[in-house]
Amino acid sequence: MSSETTPVTKTDLSIELLGRKFNNPIILGSGTLGDSIERVNLFLASKIGGVIPRTTRLHYAPGRDHHPSPHLDVMSGGNMRNAEWTGATIDYWRPFLGKLSENGRTIISISGRDINGCLAVCQELDRFNFPFFEINISCAHSNDAHGFITRNWEHITTLVRTLKDVGIKTPLALKFGHSDYIVSLALAAQEAGADAIVAINTLCPVIDFDISSGKPNFTLGIAGGKGGLSGKAIFNIALTDVFDLSKHLTIPVIGCGGISSVEDVIKMIMAGASMVEVYTAAHLHGKKAPEFLNKLVGDVDKWLAEHGYSNISQIQGLALKSVSQNNQIIPLLPKLNKDLCTGCNKCVNICLEDGAISMINNSQKKPKQFPKIDPNHCIGCGACVSVCPKDAIFLEAPLS
Ligand SMILES: Cc1cc2nc3c(=O)[nH]c(=O)nc-3n(C[C@H](O)[C@H](O)[C@H](O)COP(=O)(O)O)c2cc1C
Ligand code: SF4
Ligand code: SF4
Repeated sequence: MSSETTPVTKTDLSIELLGRKFNNPIILGSGTLGDSIERVNLFLASKIGGVIPRTTRLHYAPGRDHHPSPHLDVMSGGNMRNAEWTGATIDYWRPFLGKLSENGRTIISISGRDINGCLAVCQELDRFNFPFFEINISCAHSNDAHGFITRNWEHITTLVRTLKDVGIKTPLALKFGHSDYIVSLALAAQEAGADAIVAINTLCPVIDFDISSGKPNFTLGIAGGKGGLSGKAIFNIALTDVFDLSKHLTIPVIGCGGISSVEDVIKMIMAGASMVEVYTAAHLHGKKAPEFLNKLVGDVDKWLAEHGYSNISQIQGLALKSVSQNNQIIPLLPKLNKDLCTGCNKCVNICLEDGAISMINNSQKKPKQFPKIDPNHCIGCGACVSVCPKDAIFLEAPLS
């Protein structure tokens, strides 16, 4: 919180999206956590704004009526690889659809790989009153094994037009995977009639190694041992996609990928996301996933209050307004706020330029030492500012 911020006592986390109101912007993303009605009900009992059950479909594709084994690799650093490629068909969900549609918080994820199958499921579900359908065209390892439809302009536009031409009235949010062409593909989807874009699904897929044996580590039971990467490692890729999509699209963007903290939620919304989906960070909490998500909702509320925002819509797209179109060429100089500095030395340790920054003793009591910058040696790279844990050092234009 900056010293000028006046905290507020009452905040409003509610979001309007596609003609519906959600209590807060946090949605459980589609995946194993929502692969049965019992699990979905656990999340509906939590405080989150929405729940997306695992992607459903009309029929299982040949050979894909069960997951390969193993199919989950919990990695270090808050990441996962998964090789899951099936979710219960609509036959499983049919008895629960009426009840699920009544709560206004369940968003149905439907596979968009088989266009006719997707159409049949959408037509059946369109009789209910779901807030929107998420059309999944982006499971990374499925794409790897069966063709990358998330980068297939023709598949995407045909899919959206087919659903719109028959008059599906429930809004359609297309869930993309990352690609270098995500903005142009999403623009094509928007032009074809998509109502929102979700970005992003799992990435690549990727491999990992066990260096003691030289073999792929925990080879997932999919040919080649690769799995779709999710979790913290993909956050900045997802954030950048959401930012770029928000800049270019007129339809709403929902952010997903690596969100694991209140700061990540805030960044995604500042980058233009209307709502966010969280999956891996919740999955890594196992059976305690609903509690983790409840805490996240509470943390967002607290963050807004502490930073003087009474309404979450005040931060939506904030970053889009302030990004400069020009490169900063003239070196900026680090400046110190001594009141915040603890003398931890991190800024000095990270600096590669001889004589640019050094610790000097402080005659006053606290901190015992603080950094001094020599403008003749500092090149304004910004590394010291990035590592400071107290935001005690910041960059400013030099005086002359
Ligand atoms: C185990 C697992 C299963 C998943 N299953 C689905 C799925 O059925 N449908 C879907 O659209 N996304 C699925 N995803 C992708 C997530 O919803 C999410 O888009 C992706 O993991 C990136 O977000 P995250 O880093 O918060 O997990 C799955 C992810 C994982 C890890
Ligand atoms: S801006 Fe870069 S060069 Fe200057 S003091 Fe900081 S780390 Fe060193
Ligand atoms: S990293 Fe920040 S808190 Fe630590 S000495 Fe440098 S300016 Fe002070």
